[in-house]
Amino acid sequence: MSQDKPKAYVNTIGCQMNVYDSQILAGLLQNAGYEQTHDPDLADLVLCNTCAIRHKAQEKAYSFLGRFAGTRIKGKRPLTIMAGCVAQKEKEKAFVRLPHLDLVLGTQAFGRFETHIKALVAGETRIVDTEPSENIFEGFPKHAMAEKIQVSRFVTIMQGCENFCTYCVVPYVRGKEKSRNPSAIVEEIEGLAKSGVREITLLGQNVNSYAGNNGQVCFPDLLHLVSRVEGIERIRFATSHPKDLSADLIEAIKDVDKVCNHLHLPVQSGSNDILKRMNRKYDRETYFTRISALRQACPDIALSTDIIVGFPGETRFDFEQTMNLLETVEFDAVFAFAYSARSFTPAAKFSNQLDEQIKRDRLNELLDFQEKITEEKNKAFVGKKVTVLVEGDSPKPRDGFVKKNKNTRQMFGRSDANKIVHFASDQAGIGDLVTLEIINAYPHSLWGEVCESD
Ligand code: SAH
Ligand code: SF4
Ligand code: F3S
Repeated sequence: MSQDKPKAYVNTIGCQMNVYDSQILAGLLQNAGYEQTHDPDLADLVLCNTCAIRHKAQEKAYSFLGRFAGTRIKGKRPLTIMAGCVAQKEKEKAFVRLPHLDLVLGTQAFGRFETHIKALVAGETRIVDTEPSENIFEGFPKHAMAEKIQVSRFVTIMQGCENFCTYCVVPYVRGKEKSRNPSAIVEEIEGLAKSGVREITLLGQNVNSYAGNNGQVCFPDLLHLVSRVEGIERIRFATSHPKDLSADLIEAIKDVDKVCNHLHLPVQSGSNDILKRMNRKYDRETYFTRISALRQACPDIALSTDIIVGFPGETRFDFEQTMNLLETVEFDAVFAFAYSARSFTPAAKFSNQLDEQIKRDRLNELLDFQEKITEEKNKAFVGKKVTVLVEGDSPKPRDGFVKKNKNTRQMFGRSDANKIVHFASDQAGIGDLVTLEIINAYPHSLWGEVCESD
């Protein structure tokens, strides 16, 4: 590290797309002469890439940026930047709680970021840019945030969302849906493959409605194109909307070898009345039909979903319908959230908002219920062989495991079905595909032993 370069600290809150965006922002900061620091207290510039999906995420951004209001020991405070979805949502309002903020950078303002940094360095302050842009992805440097090689990386393939689910702020902060050109996506992935990346996750709010080259290339076509990139072993994608889960996509999951045997298909609720008021455009019967078609084509496919509990007007019966759906589908993983009222969204104005305590109780009840299903699903892997892509050293090896293998390196990888598997090996390296026999299952991970043939 050089002594004279100014230092930037980038904090990311929110979804995988924000992780991708932060790489662009970090790349632009690097272009502007900054080097990254992992200690915000040493930074000359602090940027928080924010998320507005729920009240809690937004509060996290405000409280993080609030830390830099005061004068630092060295006698000057860092340039402080709010970027991303909260910036887009709040605009000038961000200064009310954060008067020291120097820049509010909306979700489509990345192309003007370097100009704004120059203006800030020249002494300007309180810049707000939440203007739209035609192209928010091409031509930017992308700087991996981690210091270590990452074998798995995200590639955003489309911006925005026009589904307008009644609870969701995304269409208001991310704008219109727009697909990147397939050639730009493939080129980016080729570059990543050359740098050692083995797994790609294609990202969009609704990847099934991807329409590249003015609608000539659909999402299953893109999966075929990406699968031809040499060096890429695995392809994942998120998120798919149940209303658009086509037969072609099911076929691509089945036929394209590199596409992983896992689908994240957010259902949000098991109640038809709630689904209707959420404007999800499908009912529980359609969801079941799509899952059956998927399981018929790919019998072992792992499934995960998102659930919102406590949507306005959700009755005990509606909630039980959701529990019943979880029991019927038996997801491998469920990401559940208590409903959070968001500005601009129609549901925030619905009259029958639920008590916070009811939402919390239902969320806990659902999480407890699902934990047993997830554990059972994991236990079903015991005795089976799975191949993992090795991602790194296990952060916290379990006690029994440490005792048994105390002289061996403990690593983890992800299976095709997206299960985290820990194992011991002195031979395996990051980026290797290793076949393991599962010997133990836990609620959130599996334990494997390297198969002799490897
Ligand atoms: N585009 C994706 C997911 C977007 S946001 C989709 O359509 O599924 C990720 C998840 O956050 C959603 O699936 C939903 O479960 C949750 N979410 C969105 N808005 C929310 C809100 N207002 N309150 C609570 N959870 C919310
Ligand atoms: Fe939000 Fe619905 Fe769009 Fe997903 S599909 S981002 S939940 S509006
Ligand atoms: Fe959050 Fe914006 Fe992603 S609101 S979930 S960071 S698109």
